Amino acid sequence: MLAALAVAGGASAQSWAWDDGTTPFVSSPPEVVDRMLQLAEPKAGERLVDLGSGDGRIVIQAAKRFGAQGLGVEIDPSLVRRATENARRAGVEALARFAVQDLFETDLRGVSVVTMYLLPEVNLKVMPRLLQDLKPGARIVSHDYGMGDWAPDETVELLVAEKMVGPLGRSRILLWLVPADARGVWRSEVPEFGGAWEFRIAQKYQRLDAEARAQGREMRVHGSRLRGEEIKLVVTGNVGGKVRNLLFRGHVRGDRIAGDVLISDGEESTTRPWTATRNP
Ligand SMILES: C[S@@+](CC[C@H](N)C(=O)[O-])C[C@H]1O[C@@H](n2cnc3c(N)ncnc32)[C@H](O)[C@@H]1O
Repeated sequence: MLAALAVAGGASAQSWAWDDGTTPFVSSPPEVVDRMLQLAEPKAGERLVDLGSGDGRIVIQAAKRFGAQGLGVEIDPSLVRRATENARRAGVEALARFAVQDLFETDLRGVSVVTMYLLPEVNLKVMPRLLQDLKPGARIVSHDYGMGDWAPDETVELLVAEKMVGPLGRSRILLWLVPADARGVWRSEVPEFGGAWEFRIAQKYQRLDAEARAQGREMRVHGSRLRGEEIKLVVTGNVGGKVRNLLFRGHVRGDRIAGDVLISDGEESTTRPWTATRNP
């Protein structure tokens, strides 16, 4: 039995769980589906999976608007039939497919976008699989609920007057990018600006804690960001006799970072190629 559809004033996630804790069928409103997909930006040909696809609306809209190749996995066979029929009516049956499948057994390797409108406990259970199976840069979008201590990269709140479950009258949409593995000691050369640079990076999800050294001196790292494979480090230090700001930016691919460094002394700025290699 559905425990209770909503509790006036402060509807919690539990208030709309089935008694056994599984997620019941409740559709994301159309404006929420649109916003989820805008945040995830599926590209034509990319694979998208909706975990618990209900009537199929997310996968169908992703096919219609973005040309994405989608799979909706759903435990309830009658909903899979309904979603398949909806896809046919929308003329996107070649792109939008549905399967009766437990979301915990779904193969997510090679998937670029995962969408979900599941209860928070379910999100937490699925999180290790998302981190393990998806490639850096893959996007995960969730309606209303987060994933424990993995903070989203972006959160959007929408007013949705008709919303009667979870947060009443509004929806939260959360976006995560699967972070590349950037931890470790990285070495690089910036010939005219400090020569050999070393970066020591600790990481939790997309949060980085970085230190930098050049010419044997500590440099101050006062900003760092990792979005998927994209890394940025903002460093200030005395390089070549002048205090300079350096913005290192690049893509982390395996044990290599490739990009550029923007160097400024407050008057002039210059850009140089930047590559770094991880110490084994
Ligand atoms: C809240 S609905 C979301 C439907 C759709 N994704 C949307 O946003 O409109 C969650 C769906 O997940 C399905 N579901 C629950 N547990 C599941 C499981 N273990 N595997 C697959 N589907 C599941 C439910 O049957 C339900 O249709």
